[in-house]
Amino acid sequence: MAEPPREELVPGAVLLRRAALPVAAELLQCIDEVVLQAPFRHMHTPGGHRMSVAMTNCGACGWITDASGYRYSEVDPETGEPWPALPAAFLTVATSAASNAGFAGFQPDACLVNCYVPGARMTLHQDRNEADFEQPIVSISLGLPADFQFGGLLRSDPVRRVRLGHGDVVVWGGPARLRFHGVLPLKDGKHAATGCVRYNLTLRTAR
Ligand code: SIN
Ligand code: FE2
Repeated sequence: MAEPPREELVPGAVLLRRAALPVAAELLQCIDEVVLQAPFRHMHTPGGHRMSVAMTNCGACGWITDASGYRYSEVDPETGEPWPALPAAFLTVATSAASNAGFAGFQPDACLVNCYVPGARMTLHQDRNEADFEQPIVSISLGLPADFQFGGLLRSDPVRRVRLGHGDVVVWGGPARLRFHGVLPLKDGKHAATGCVRYNLTLRTAR
């Protein structure tokens, strides 16, 4: 497979445009299967705000938030069951993207699956509930385009805005691992593969 175009956003953060495009249909099929077992839900922040992004997880553990805080859990609190297994297709794309971005040996054990409808957004945050910050984050976008914000190590640092489309993959680790990032409210639209939504998969080594 030809190497995808590679754009360094900042040291440690790489955008691999359309890297997941060849397997996008398979990834979407896997999302459908995950959701049968662990449906999308709107979680609440510790402060009590309902998140506009609907979420679920697959893998050995999944990211959750409720009144007790942000954390990883080995079971889906909605069902009391383990999360669905990480689909092989997720693992393959994520490890190959990580290695293209300079992070060989990535072994994710958790995948947060985000579903955005028009208006849904994710405010600036750091991914810091994982045990080992040596491991990168791999983010795969599917469906409607979104304006991703990539900031600095302080919430108040200037942000760079990057349009992420179907099949685009962003990897951040090393000096960029704790950079603030977020997603601006999704704009209305219709995508041939997903209809009126955007999905995002973020693969992490949580434990
Ligand atoms: C996240 O930070 O969990 C989501 C990023 C995205 O939706 O692109
Ligand atoms: Fe994040």
